[in-house]
Amino acid sequence: MAKPTFKANPIQVQVPATSANLGPGFDSFGLAFGMYDRYVAQILDEGGLDIDVTGEGADEVPRTDKNLLVKAMYKGFDFLGGKPKGVAVRALNVIPHGRGLGSSASAIIGGLVLARSLVLTGTDKMSDEALLNLANEMEGHPDNVAAALYGGATVAWQDVVKGKAVAHAVHLPVDPRIKVMAFIPSTPLATKKARTMLPETIPFADALRNSSNAALLTQALTIRPDLLFTATEDFLHQSYRQEAMPASFALMTKLRAAGIAAFISGAGPTVLALHTEGDEESIQLSRAGGAKFEGKSLEIASRGATLL
Ligand code: HSE
Repeated sequence: MAKPTFKANPIQVQVPATSANLGPGFDSFGLAFGMYDRYVAQILDEGGLDIDVTGEGADEVPRTDKNLLVKAMYKGFDFLGGKPKGVAVRALNVIPHGRGLGSSASAIIGGLVLARSLVLTGTDKMSDEALLNLANEMEGHPDNVAAALYGGATVAWQDVVKGKAVAHAVHLPVDPRIKVMAFIPSTPLATKKARTMLPETIPFADALRNSSNAALLTQALTIRPDLLFTATEDFLHQSYRQEAMPASFALMTKLRAAGIAAFISGAGPTVLALHTEGDEESIQLSRAGGAKFEGKSLEIASRGATLL
């Protein structure tokens, strides 16, 4: 492929926080929220990487080409024919890190969208499906990245074509009555660690209940919120990860015992509850986590990554 022509103007993008799994939809369901990390990048005439990060995780993330946003941007440039000599990047992070709210997916999608937008005819050369696949290669599962790219609720899946995983996703319009309450703890949990806790096999009866609930979840999210409680019950992963997040598991169990559609957000440790209650009940619900959790009401974002 010919070396790309780069645009001179700065490009700015916002990418939403996301939740994955939503109970039984392990590595498949995603949901985007109105909480955004914002990224800006501009091509430099001189060589090198000029990077600045502020906000959530600013003290921890590298200011080198090991930075996830930069890695994704470089991967995008490589896909489009080659990197520029130099680039300046700014990240304003709002999504908390390591809480199961998709901060990595936001950085990955952000970097790829920046690369695509900084290259003349980048959008012709990299379709959304191609971008999703580059993101999936980096993240290892397509659930968060699909929701971060497309917004709303998404169902993502992977085929294997000639020995290579190919990711796809569909967008589901979320019933406007559905509201989200997040219970965010102050301590993180690494997804990598949570993935090592999963079993090799599960009982057939669990697989059966999980697959019916995951199928039901598409109806519950789009037109039948009254089914959310049943549809968010998981049999695949949450119980196996309990030891890594006992307080989150206890809160989820308490909320479900009260009939609330609660589940672990992604690999945790945030707990999410989907509900259709009014403002007063919402405020009450936000207190259910006590001192260990910040109860935060989140909007569902109908759009994913958006150029500003
Ligand atoms: N589906 C992934 C997991 C989501 O649960 O491991 C990680 O955010």
